[in-house]
Amino acid sequence: MGVEIAFSLNGTPRRIVVRPGAALLEVLREQCGVTSVKDGCAPQGQCGSCLALVDGNPKVSCAMPATAVHGSVVLTLEGVSAEERDLTARAFAAAAGVQCGFCIPGIALRAKWLLDRHPAPSRAQIARAIDVHLCRCTGYVKILDAIELLARARRGEAWPEPVGRGRVGDRLARRHAEELALGQEPFVADLVRPGLLHGALVLSPHARARLRHLDVTRARALPGVVRVATAADVPGERWYGLLHDDWPGLVAVGEEVRCVGDVVAAVAAEDRHTAREAARLVEAEYEGLAPVLDPAASLAEHAPRVNPRHPNLLSRSVIRRGDVDAALAASAHVVAGTWQTQRIEHLYLEPECALAEVLPDGRVRLYSQGQGIFDDRRQVARFLGVPEERVHVELVPNGGAFGGKEDMSVQAQTALLAWLTGRPVMLQLSRDESIRLHPKRHPVTLHYTAGCDADGRLTAVRARLVGDSGAYASVGGKVLERAAGHACGPYRVPHVDVEALAVYTNNPPCGAMRGFGANQAHFAMEGCVDLLAKAAGIDPWDMRWRNALEVGDRFCTGQILEKSVGLKQTLLAVRPAYERARAEGRAVGIACGIKNSGIGNGVAEWGKARLVVETDGTVSLYNGYTEMGQGLLTVLTQFAVEVTGLPPHVFRAKVDTTFALGCGQTTGSRATLFGGNAVLSAARKLRADLDAGHALADLAGRVYAADVVVDDTTALGADVPRVKTHTSFGFATQVCVLDGEGRVAKVVAAHDVGRAVNPALCEGQIEGSIHMGLGYALTEDLPCEDGMPVTFKLRELGVLRAQDMPDVEVILVEEPEPEGPFGAKGVGEIGLVPTAAAVAGALEAFDGIRRYRLPMKDSPAARAMSVGRIRRQPALPRP
Ligand code: FES
Ligand code: FES
Repeated sequence: MGVEIAFSLNGTPRRIVVRPGAALLEVLREQCGVTSVKDGCAPQGQCGSCLALVDGNPKVSCAMPATAVHGSVVLTLEGVSAEERDLTARAFAAAAGVQCGFCIPGIALRAKWLLDRHPAPSRAQIARAIDVHLCRCTGYVKILDAIELLARARRGEAWPEPVGRGRVGDRLARRHAEELALGQEPFVADLVRPGLLHGALVLSPHARARLRHLDVTRARALPGVVRVATAADVPGERWYGLLHDDWPGLVAVGEEVRCVGDVVAAVAAEDRHTAREAARLVEAEYEGLAPVLDPAASLAEHAPRVNPRHPNLLSRSVIRRGDVDAALAASAHVVAGTWQTQRIEHLYLEPECALAEVLPDGRVRLYSQGQGIFDDRRQVARFLGVPEERVHVELVPNGGAFGGKEDMSVQAQTALLAWLTGRPVMLQLSRDESIRLHPKRHPVTLHYTAGCDADGRLTAVRARLVGDSGAYASVGGKVLERAAGHACGPYRVPHVDVEALAVYTNNPPCGAMRGFGANQAHFAMEGCVDLLAKAAGIDPWDMRWRNALEVGDRFCTGQILEKSVGLKQTLLAVRPAYERARAEGRAVGIACGIKNSGIGNGVAEWGKARLVVETDGTVSLYNGYTEMGQGLLTVLTQFAVEVTGLPPHVFRAKVDTTFALGCGQTTGSRATLFGGNAVLSAARKLRADLDAGHALADLAGRVYAADVVVDDTTALGADVPRVKTHTSFGFATQVCVLDGEGRVAKVVAAHDVGRAVNPALCEGQIEGSIHMGLGYALTEDLPCEDGMPVTFKLRELGVLRAQDMPDVEVILVEEPEPEGPFGAKGVGEIGLVPTAAAVAGALEAFDGIRRYRLPMKDSPAARAMSVGRIRRQPALPRP
């Protein structure tokens, strides 16, 4: 029985029957077709993505009952005047304020509300106004720039000069930035199909238990339910995984559930609410089993096996070089300590969603927001028991990923429901479900001993790292392998003894997250460098300068660095700010960073591209990597523009399985490097035809192909004459300056990016990373009890708000990478690799306390933040 409401929506009277209890967001999206309001956290009301103006007042529509707008005037971005929409879109695009874009429509509407009242707000006023809104990508820097620009434009001031012609080095606006700013560029959840069903999952409430019985009778009987699927309905291989097939898409009766994100049933129904209601009616009986909750317990003798497909020790990575015992014994100074990092949540603003449909020719078309659509296709095809050619996957550029969308989330279950029903199915996770289901950043315990001589030159490092990888392998073994490889940071260390373990537990799985193990290792290693500097009486900047890697030096893995080592340039770039702050008596911390570009470690990697000249005068630009807000498709377009001389609007970037362009995951800061090289190669072929006198129109139908393989890296620890674990490395130095109260006042970040293909996007990646790094340092955490997160609330999870952000100054250093396109190398991850250590150093300078544990919530810097206080400890279901 519905409730009729009447209200004005964007100037049009509406009379609608709504579901009792429905939120305004549900009604706007599902009944009114409004897509500028996004569901980032419903019904929490803590991200701002769903903002609407109700009677002129900003309201988070997910937390507002639809019935409350009866008789009201509701405005969304769709109802704003064409002129204002145009100014808004142009301002966000020109200021590079849009990365993934998921948060932007809500912020843009908030900006309108603010600027209607305050035509010339200060930057602080803008930050205060958007504090309700969460952005995980930008660090808010360029969002504030965009709103300032919008304010000036609304006051009639001139626009800045155009941003160039889209060549390499130009600040070309991100692809589809204007549409994203207005909420008109669809994410998966915005797609519509006739006859669309909605899916919902039944998740295990237990971290470890045996599924004894499953009764779907009541769920199936609910009106509107079309299908309830269980493990018995999977026609193919139920277990999948990126590296190990150890993750069941549906847990079967008789099997164990291994974490609170395990799926035991999936429902398809006529609408989302009914699907969720039916999921609640699925009756599952479990036999409780004691969960394995930490790596030590997991590795203990007679510990229960967490995952039947693999022993509890997931991986062991070892690097040994020289004689560490002797070197430490001969060192002038030796320090030791145990550092501990925490589990954190990616908290991309767009929760996981997929849409699948069976095509008339019998193929399944899957719309995915994953970080590797070819891996999606492989795993979904096996799940359905069909050849890969029967599955076509299209990427819908996602609303943030940061590594958390590498593994399958809902793709397989969505495809199964479409397969079983013959109807299109969309399955979207709620925020809570998203947090339970996808892999996190590893908590790692790091025991370090490090030494230096009397001049502060590092002599040896011994490191023992243990990471909690949770219930499934994901890429956890690779994360700890990467941590091992980066265990000595960007420093010359002659004697090395490193061991890193990844261990299964019944906690939420851990896998890829921006930085991929390097962050954890740097927190400990940079701590050692600070401790040694203190012991040797050497200034922390100088200590780093004396040990900084240069061309010809050996990296921790044993690789001799032969080119493009810009670390010392980054140290020089921050020096004036560092010295000025110290001269002013400020508490200052400094840390350096190194991060590989390319997975390396003996893995063959590919860049693949196809340029297809279309009959309408455009050129489709296909590649195998994912756009997830980092601007990859814009950068690839700039490469094509640079080579062909054609304008950027000619190129239409596409990511789908039309061509065999599988490159694996968009990971390891490698998409610009390898995807770029492939586009370069394909574009040169097109250019050759253009130079031969052909007009583009004459070339319609031609496909310019390039597959570029990189297979010259060597496995970690391999006994080979020439160790080359990675193709390329990025370098950074960051300085953290505190104010007189111990709050973070400024971060100065100098980064060697090889070549800034698009300086605006480069800066945006680093600014966003610093935001993430500060949260990692101070406020972000995802504590679990009995394997269940103790909170799902966005503010408690600790992602910083606009007002929490200090000044950020980014300095781009260009030390060209000969193996990269136009000298470029990856910049997506390194931005937060040194941040936590720089903050720890600044805090020690402030209060004399060396902190070894993240997040550093006991610090004045953390206490000054508006987020990260976990207030509620819910009663947890126990087996
Ligand atoms: S979806 Fe409404 S505030 Fe997040
Ligand atoms: S641009 Fe703000 S969440 Fe991605």
